[in-house]
Amino acid sequence: MKVLVTGGAGYIGSHTVLTLLAENHSVVVFDNLCNSSIEAIKRVERLSGKSVTFIQGDVCDKAQLNELFIGHDIDAVIHFAALKAVGQSTQMPLEYYQNNVYGSLCLLEVMQLHQVNNFVFSSSATVYGEEAQPPYLETIKLGTTASPYGATKVMVERIIEDFVKANNAFRAVSLRYFNPIGAHESGEIGEDPLGIPNNLLPYIAQVAVGKRDKLSIFGNDYDTEDGTCKRDYLHVMDLAQGHVAALDWLENNPNFNGAEVFNLGTGNAVSVLEIVAAFEQAYGKTLAYEFAPRRSGDLPAFWADASKANSQLNWQAKRSLLQMMTDTWRWQSNNPNGY
Ligand code: NAD
Ligand code: WQD
Repeated sequence: MKVLVTGGAGYIGSHTVLTLLAENHSVVVFDNLCNSSIEAIKRVERLSGKSVTFIQGDVCDKAQLNELFIGHDIDAVIHFAALKAVGQSTQMPLEYYQNNVYGSLCLLEVMQLHQVNNFVFSSSATVYGEEAQPPYLETIKLGTTASPYGATKVMVERIIEDFVKANNAFRAVSLRYFNPIGAHESGEIGEDPLGIPNNLLPYIAQVAVGKRDKLSIFGNDYDTEDGTCKRDYLHVMDLAQGHVAALDWLENNPNFNGAEVFNLGTGNAVSVLEIVAAFEQAYGKTLAYEFAPRRSGDLPAFWADASKANSQLNWQAKRSLLQMMTDTWRWQSNNPNGY
């Protein structure tokens, strides 16, 4: 297939592009580079020995998207392009709704114009909201999300549902990711956040490489075994494979039209202290940390019921926690300042 990957220079996008190339798909990346570097694409080309068509542009620019679809015979779109910082979204809600919701509307409109009917959307476990009880199953009614970021994911899922009802030819898969971590095993591509990392693993990796003094663990008085929050962390290369599985599923189900959702997680919950211990094993030293107050909006524990992806997409997260840590550390130690 010829696959358009919006946001393909980003963390999950770059790993997915590499996986798509390995599966002999051809790839056009469309990214405005607002949170990424072209170097990621260069490294993907080097690692794969294949070339990627890169177009710098914004998904909110319908004219540019139109040009892209005129110039390339696209079979399917994987839509990663979005702003993703939960805390920032509470400070800049309009930018988040504009970028994530309006950007998706523009993309869908131009896809419709060009009759490109296969769509994979990056959704998130955050759509289950604050009331849902883990493990999260796709059939749970979507809840109240704690942030504008989360709300944009719920809204786009809803837009997709309505769109497929009105457009019989359109086929969509929303993938609800849990907590992607790790890096490609080469150590050449990985997560490269701007500024102070918000997420746990990039922060830990920066402490290990000496860029930050110590990790603050947000809360040790939760109702969990060791008092710290538990999440379903999955390796980004397993997640990348999940996108290929979603495309294969669309291709193998030509009569499907509609919108399907799948959780992509391991099905296991791991605490922050367990993450620290696993990272120390890969790192070979102890990691400096302190306990700090709870971070507002954090839920004590959630993890996926990933059986639907397992049975229907034939997908399973295979890489171990230790591999996630080893690959994170290889990427960070080889690239202390990112790209
Ligand atoms: P990322 O920031 O590394 O990648 C997003 C990419 O999209 C970046 O390269 C950025 O430059 C690009 N982009 C943003 N707005 C754009 C626009 N208007 N036009 C064109 N390009 C634009 O983030 P990521 O972690 O790779 O996340 C990818 C997707 O997965 C996002 O939709 C995110 O919400 C979703 N997601 C991420 C996580 C996670 O923990 N990383 C979890 C669940 C869902
Ligand atoms: C994990 C755990 C923190 C940093 C977020 C989004 C979610 C999804 C994935 C996009 C929590 C603790 C963290 C630190 C810490 N993204 N922590 N010290 O919050 O589960 O999910 O990213 O869709 O929508 O909300 O991930 O990595 O920020 O936190 O103790 O410096 O690590 O409290 O328990 P989170 P995270």
